[in-house]
Amino acid sequence: MIVAPSILAADFARLAAEIESVEAAGAKWLHVDVMDGHFVPNITLGPPVVESLRRVTKMLLDVHLMIAEPGRYVRAFAEAGADRITVHAEACTHLHRTIQEIRAAGPKAGVAVNPATPPEAVRWVLDGVDLVLVMTVNPGFGGQAFIPGTVQKIPRLRQWAAGRKDLHIEVDGGIDPGTAPAAVAAGADVLVAGSAVFGKADRKKAVADILRAVAHISTV
Ligand code: DX5
Ligand code: ZN
Repeated sequence: MIVAPSILAADFARLAAEIESVEAAGAKWLHVDVMDGHFVPNITLGPPVVESLRRVTKMLLDVHLMIAEPGRYVRAFAEAGADRITVHAEACTHLHRTIQEIRAAGPKAGVAVNPATPPEAVRWVLDGVDLVLVMTVNPGFGGQAFIPGTVQKIPRLRQWAAGRKDLHIEVDGGIDPGTAPAAVAAGADVLVAGSAVFGKADRKKAVADILRAVAHISTV
């Protein structure tokens, strides 16, 4: 089970210290939300920030591109040091090609689905990815309420990818100790948490509280 703190909820003026605090809390992945004000109604950060993050942490950089035509920026984020790049199925005309481009550039590839997107949208690219991100809120903002029905997609994805123990299923949005159990019971193994980690003063406790809430639930 992996908790991936999302820097969207961090204090950007103190980013290095914020990141150190979650690394010290035991987080192995850092979730980096990239928004372009076009695919989603918010703007965040680009490759230069990823490059700076790369210099201050050993955590795996899990870059979530909420941008239109993400294929145009795959190389830039790969060169900046992203370990994984996840693109939205809704943002790619040629999803299969974009996934191949991510892998050719070096990082591991992920594909994300919005709450209204059926899991079938990624069924025929599952072989090419090692992560599916099931959005549990509509992308664009931190601090939104978890949408419970979204996790019903996860058992289907697990079924289609039967035998793929290496396939990560990540949930993102409104994840906290109260909502994480439903996602994990459905088959998720990566829990993105923004407000539930960076919104708390004690990051060690925040990460531990999430892990404790799902510890008793059998997973994949
Ligand atoms: C939402 C982002 C999320 C966000 C989650 O568009 O993709 O990663 O940071 O924030 P919380 O955990 O506060 O819902
Ligand atoms: Zn995200």
